Amino acid sequence: MRAIEIRGKGGPEVLALADRPTPDIGPGEVLVRVAAAGVNRPDVQQRKGLYPPPPGVTDIPGLDIAGVVERSAADVTWPRAGDAVCALVAGGGYAEFCKVPAQQCMPLPRGFSFAQAATLPEAFFTAWNNVFWLGRIAPGETLLVQGGTSGVGLAAIQMARGLRDATVIATCSSAEKRSVCLDHGAQHVVDYRDAQWPEQVHALAGERGVDVILDSQGGDYVPLELGLLARDGRLVLITSHRAPTATISTRDIYIRGLTLTGSTLRARPPGYKGRIARELVEQAWPLLEAGRIRTHICGIFPLEQAAAAQSVLDANAQIGKLVLTVSDLAETVP
Ligand SMILES: NC(=O)c1ccc[n+]([C@@H]2O[C@H](COP(=O)([O-])OP(=O)(O)OC[C@H]3O[C@@H](n4cnc5c(N)ncnc54)[C@H](OP(=O)(O)O)[C@@H]3O)[C@@H](O)[C@H]2O)c1
Repeated sequence: MRAIEIRGKGGPEVLALADRPTPDIGPGEVLVRVAAAGVNRPDVQQRKGLYPPPPGVTDIPGLDIAGVVERSAADVTWPRAGDAVCALVAGGGYAEFCKVPAQQCMPLPRGFSFAQAATLPEAFFTAWNNVFWLGRIAPGETLLVQGGTSGVGLAAIQMARGLRDATVIATCSSAEKRSVCLDHGAQHVVDYRDAQWPEQVHALAGERGVDVILDSQGGDYVPLELGLLARDGRLVLITSHRAPTATISTRDIYIRGLTLTGSTLRARPPGYKGRIARELVEQAWPLLEAGRIRTHICGIFPLEQAAAAQSVLDANAQIGKLVLTVSDLAETVP
């Protein structure tokens, strides 16, 4: 099959089209003929050698796919051959075929093309795991999303608004990104390039503070963010692009009952991801189908131009999601 492989650590030029064996499936798994694959920041981290695949997972990059099931293991009741699915995968999305545990498959939201559906799994699973499960966002609470126009950020903003009626403050780095955050439901937007961003967030959240913060920066942001939290507030870290360490007041944690937590999804077992899949289909898919949550695609590239797609992320020029088209079905609605 055609697939993109990473030939050494480096820039987008290390991505190359290759001929790889079609994966075999085992019990509980399905083989998907990929129509479209999402491009995510962790793929760039993998290319740079900073986010290796977990043991036993293919080195082909790509964490979300949409396509048609080619075959399923005998013990799988859904999906079966011919079903259209989108799925979170631990790797292997940048390829014509990808194997995935059946539990991680979801039907496409009605009316969605494969390309649109391929933008959903990584961003929506991550937002659900971190804002809803770990962050325990409750109705009417205030959420701060760092990087509001990232794929994860737009999913978090829209689900927190649509499902919890949260007040959402987002950060970003340009006027265009600001209007996209507002257009997707953030009530307030702060430019993180302004050194006064914590004071601005504090003024917007009021004396009570922010209940949940979703952060991918870590490092020196952590003490600032703990300072912005309300009593019993939750800071959820999903990466630490600024630095892996931070100096914090542990006293703040117990005096104000704060929670400092975080996660990665990739190495979690299929059962864990399957529970997220079921909750998303029940709760977020109806809003996607009603147009109350949207996916924002800023670039579509054929599989062989994966390097060009990742260059957009390297330049931090993306707004929302980038997609690779892998077959002629990519832009069709099943
Ligand atoms: N732990 C997990 O399970 C998991 C899973 C998926 C993704 N992630 C992480 O989640 C983040 C979003 O993923 P994605 O693929 O959706 O990424 P993405 O589209 O590449 O977005 C990165 C975001 O980071 C923002 N950012 C950069 N510097 C910042 C700063 N100093 N302060 C605040 N925000 C800043 C960017 O804002 P501007 O564009 O406005 O500059 C952009 O919105 C990434 O950091 C990714 O590594 C974690």
